[in-house]
Amino acid sequence: MEWNVEGIGESAQTLILPLFEEVAKAPNKATSGLGRSTSAQVREAVVSDDFDGKSGKSLTLWNSGQKVVLAGMGLPENLAEKDARDAGAKLLASLSKQHGKSLTVRFTTNWRVAQMIAFAEGMMLRDYKFDKYQQKDDDDDDSPYSVTFQASDRYLRQLHDGCARAGAIAVGVHRARDLGNEPANVLYPMEYAKRARAWAKGKDNVKLTVIEWAELKKLGMDGLVNVGKGSEHKPCMVIFELNPDARDGPCPMIVGKGITFDTGGISIKPSGGMDEMKFDMHGSATVFGLMEALHGIGHQQPVIGISCMAENTLSSTAYRPGDVINTYSGKTVEVLNTDAEGRLVLADGLWKAGEFDPEFIIDLATLTGACVVALGHEATGLWSNDDALRERLRKAAESVDELAWPMPLLPAFEKQVKDSKIADVKNLGDRYGGANSAAAFLKQFVPERGEGDDAEPYPWAHLDIAGTAWGTSTNDMVAHGATGVHVRTLTHLLTEK
Ligand code: BES
Ligand code: MN
Ligand code: ZN
Repeated sequence: MEWNVEGIGESAQTLILPLFEEVAKAPNKATSGLGRSTSAQVREAVVSDDFDGKSGKSLTLWNSGQKVVLAGMGLPENLAEKDARDAGAKLLASLSKQHGKSLTVRFTTNWRVAQMIAFAEGMMLRDYKFDKYQQKDDDDDDSPYSVTFQASDRYLRQLHDGCARAGAIAVGVHRARDLGNEPANVLYPMEYAKRARAWAKGKDNVKLTVIEWAELKKLGMDGLVNVGKGSEHKPCMVIFELNPDARDGPCPMIVGKGITFDTGGISIKPSGGMDEMKFDMHGSATVFGLMEALHGIGHQQPVIGISCMAENTLSSTAYRPGDVINTYSGKTVEVLNTDAEGRLVLADGLWKAGEFDPEFIIDLATLTGACVVALGHEATGLWSNDDALRERLRKAAESVDELAWPMPLLPAFEKQVKDSKIADVKNLGDRYGGANSAAAFLKQFVPERGEGDDAEPYPWAHLDIAGTAWGTSTNDMVAHGATGVHVRTLTHLLTEK
């Protein structure tokens, strides 16, 4: 979407008028720039019974050369930012070919600037398609929308800055969605690395490091090595450093699970729905999208992202149930199920994060089916060893409407993963509460600040996005496929004052 912000004046081919319920007559400015007859039509429609301004109701007026969409917003005091964002998204989704690509969105009586920005943000976020593998009809207009947001002069500065920020973040969200939606025959670990390199190229405040196969083995990143070794597409670790030169103290670290396809390995998954396991790299998609969003808004502080990329498949060179493997931390793991692979690659990613003097570590992973059972597609599971970090993250997620729900990090679950007879830990808990035992497993690999008796684990939070990374039907920002979840949450968290 191309967009700009200006005062109320002329209208493009399609004028969108989001109007509140209590508006008794069309605000004078609403019809600015319209011809006499269209103007009259709008004024008449606004007072008619056919348009009551109730939320979700809309009416399109047609005239040769000029279309006007009246969009009901309900009562202004009821329009929370979430509602305005949803309304913008729904509005965009409702547009058809006949509306054309050139739009004016005109905010008039009772609109507050935060609501305007949220409405624009919803339109930007919803303006997404993943249709690169489909043939186009000759008469399909593939050009981007060109949208002019109009408001009273006193709001223009803020509206412009808000739209610029929302637009840059939407680019990051769409990057994450593109990566998530890309099929696994196209996006394998080194292809992700290639795209990360291409993005980082020429950006002087971005440093990109790829730890490839031979080096993973040399370094003893055996979690990644074992999960990925069965595939012809070998694993890698991709490290994004944003503003590395500004680093003069502890730095936020974001770690993502990047299983480009999860067959389950030798502990193979049932075939129904297995195609969904192309989304099993969404943690790493969010890491990439976050970096792009932060760079796009001109974030000045250092942030580091680590993506743990592997394809979990089965072959004669794949790891097996019963294997005892090493990890980068030095802890050994008894592999009881090769389908519990995410925690193994994250073990190395978390440990690697400890080498950067973290302020805190947040990991994102499509980690467990159990989390989908618990929370459906409606909320991400949130575990943390630090009350303040958990609450900050919960609040950031809530404020951008990407819910993260606190879940228990209990010693009883740690006990389950610690009771291997032949290794330090095992990668499987008991039958129930699988999302919690997975979190408890990860906790074993959270690095510590300091040494000996003074050692203390870094503040760490784990986001299980198995349900929220894809498959949502209640999210107006997403029609289908990958969601780009938590690019907005983490951008908000990292940039909050
Ligand atoms: N990638 C899956 C988790 C998953 C399931 C994500 C459904 C999205 C939708 C993960 O690697 C996995 O297979 N987990 C196992 C763990 C079990 C073997 C302990 C699971 O949840 O069944
Ligand atoms: Mn798995
Ligand atoms: Zn997985």
